[in-house]
Amino acid sequence: MGSRLEGKTILVTGAAGALGSAVARSCAAEGAALVLADLNVEAVQALADEIGAAGATASAERLDVTDGDEFDALVAASAQRYGTLNGLVNTAGIVSPNARIHHLSTQDFERTVSVNLTGTFHAIRAVARALRKRSPVSIVNIASVSGLTAWSYAAPYCASKAGVIHLTRVAALEYAKEGIRVNAVCPGTFPTALHETLPAEAMQAIEAKHPLGLGSPDNLTGAVVYLASDESSWVTGHSLVVDGGYSLP
Ligand SMILES: NC(=O)c1ccc[n+]([C@@H]2O[C@H](COP(=O)([O-])OP(=O)(O)OC[C@H]3O[C@@H](n4cnc5c(N)ncnc54)[C@H](O)[C@@H]3O)[C@@H](O)[C@H]2O)c1
Repeated sequence: MGSRLEGKTILVTGAAGALGSAVARSCAAEGAALVLADLNVEAVQALADEIGAAGATASAERLDVTDGDEFDALVAASAQRYGTLNGLVNTAGIVSPNARIHHLSTQDFERTVSVNLTGTFHAIRAVARALRKRSPVSIVNIASVSGLTAWSYAAPYCASKAGVIHLTRVAALEYAKEGIRVNAVCPGTFPTALHETLPAEAMQAIEAKHPLGLGSPDNLTGAVVYLASDESSWVTGHSLVVDGGYSLP
């Protein structure tokens, strides 16, 4: 157990997922109290029970990040329950159908953007509405190297993640003077449920592009804890690439 997040309350979206649950465990191990939010409420309740049994504080909440009113209500209620919120880590995300642009429907595009980009917008807006000038908050958005490099067959995903990176910069600028830092993490590939539909050859091709090999959620939690903690108090608007060397060439 460490103390890098001692005294902080952090909301994690997508907390039932591979990365979200790893982030939650790491933040709890560093002393944070957690609000764990996801569409999958049974899974976040199980995680909250596990974290609670280990001696930390965690509550589970159902949240659809595409619903701005729900997001506002959860941030306000969490801040009231815990006195304030000091961090928000946005890991909720989906991949788009694996197809070239001319095969994609408008709904395919909008669904991906609504979770990955509009969901991040709702998160930042909810924090700004409830906590601006009230207490320092660090927002960490999980983007992707696909927001920095172009991938065929993944236009909605790449566009949504590029949007997250730039939204992070704009929000950082808008709220720097009001106590809210906003940063992003751009992971390379770590195999999870997101890759279930990809053929084995596609995964092998992706792996070959990572000089350090494919990652795991545990390769990313250090970056998230750093950005959520006071160690990064002079860092805002940054997108921290954690990708096993994927973006080097
Ligand atoms: N896995 C990778 O290789 C990789 C690489 C780069 C970036 N990312 C990003 O990391 C994040 C986490 O990915 P993961 O691999 O852990 O995925 P995951 O599928 O394991 O977890 C995603 C979680 O988001 C939740 N979610 C989906 N839609 C939601 C909504 N509307 N409201 C609330 N919760 C919702 C899901 O229920 C799930 O628990 C995503 O943003 C993803 O784009 C993943």
